[in-house]
Amino acid sequence: MPSLTKAYNHLQQGELHEASAILQAFLDQNPGDSQACYLLGITVLEQGDEESAMDRFKETINLAPEATPAHYNLGILYYNRGDFRAAQSAYARAAELAPEDMDIRFNLALTYKQLGQLTQAKELFAHILAITPDDTDTLYNLANTEQQLHNSQQAILLLETLLQYEPERLSALNNLGYLYHKEGENKKAIPVYQSLIKNNHNVMAAKHLLASLTGITTAQAPAAYVKDVFDQFADHFDASLQQKLGYNTPTLLRQLLRTVQPQAQFKHGLDLGCGTGLSGETFTDCTTILTGIDLSPKMLDQAREKNLYTELHESDLVPFIQSAEAAYDLYIAADVFVYIGDLRPIFTSIARQENLKTFIFSTEHAAQNYILKPTGRYGHSTSYIHDLAKECNFTILTHESAPIRKEGSAWINGELYILSSL
Ligand SMILES: C[S@@+](CC[C@H](N)C(=O)[O-])C[C@H]1O[C@@H](n2cnc3c(N)ncnc32)[C@H](O)[C@@H]1O
Repeated sequence: MPSLTKAYNHLQQGELHEASAILQAFLDQNPGDSQACYLLGITVLEQGDEESAMDRFKETINLAPEATPAHYNLGILYYNRGDFRAAQSAYARAAELAPEDMDIRFNLALTYKQLGQLTQAKELFAHILAITPDDTDTLYNLANTEQQLHNSQQAILLLETLLQYEPERLSALNNLGYLYHKEGENKKAIPVYQSLIKNNHNVMAAKHLLASLTGITTAQAPAAYVKDVFDQFADHFDASLQQKLGYNTPTLLRQLLRTVQPQAQFKHGLDLGCGTGLSGETFTDCTTILTGIDLSPKMLDQAREKNLYTELHESDLVPFIQSAEAAYDLYIAADVFVYIGDLRPIFTSIARQENLKTFIFSTEHAAQNYILKPTGRYGHSTSYIHDLAKECNFTILTHESAPIRKEGSAWINGELYILSSL
């Protein structure tokens, strides 16, 4: 006679084959036994068969609607496959059945977060924290939720508390550095970046941002940093830039081009740092072929969906231009030189191409030369651009000052340029 105790013991010992055989035999004799059905679900899950485990947990719930662990495990499986709606309803039912179980509540809160239901996530994490104030996973996730809700000061307090309990949690330190920096608490951000560098965590970003806060101007932002920033930003880039930051540079550049070359038509444009394609969109009317390059694969994914570009390449700018076989007659760089200080390599590599070309770009303003600003972005002075244009035999057809985008409620000033190799 197959026994559930025996099956359970095998399961405990990791003897999954034996456990499964006993449970199958038991269920053949007792088809409506919810406990055996649940244990078989756990066994096949341990064997890596998620599909069958899911079926078993659903069957368990049919047999015993109040089987909390079956609801909970079903929630985990839905969550892991990215079906957050189904996970939410499974976890919510489990939480209803076992209100004192904080693991269930924690998973439910994570699911709310995934669904973008940030207020519900925040309330639930806060509830867990009231019961277990030193739970660092909850502190971390509540801080993260507050950050997403733009409550930076709340997030800072939570991360500071977390780091008292778990000073070695470098992902928390990383977020804290970002928040100090964002809130202008530069004196606090500096030692955080130093500590991240010392602990070998997100070093490229930390070095770049530390340089920006300590008055050191580097030649350009590290590729790994740019890639990370924009990979994280890609999904909400268009909405964020256009709606929140008032970004309109591509349109301003297009209008400026019309003032000097009203009928301009180009055979092949190269959109440098094309991002999601906002710049490409505004120049499709005057280009037969458009190629885009960018460091961030996720930005390129967004650009691909717009069907604007004949080709998209994941690359840094200079190596791409230097090895390009196509003869581009238009180069566009909208809001890209804020990540590159020393523009000489780009100017010289474009100038070296033999055909006639128009070179259109925007910069953030700097009083002289180029500087890495405390925001982590570069500014370029007009005299720097003029000198470089002269050195590379470009004529500046026109340039004008323009508001580039908002920082808080203030506009950042910049310049728009149209150059020609004529
Ligand atoms: C602020 S976005 C602007 C995107 C687009 N030009 C627009 O106007 O919406 C800057 C883009 O430049 C890219 N970028 C920055 N530095 C780069 C580099 N050295 N090589 C290639 N792409 C770069 C970033 O990945 C990002 O997608």
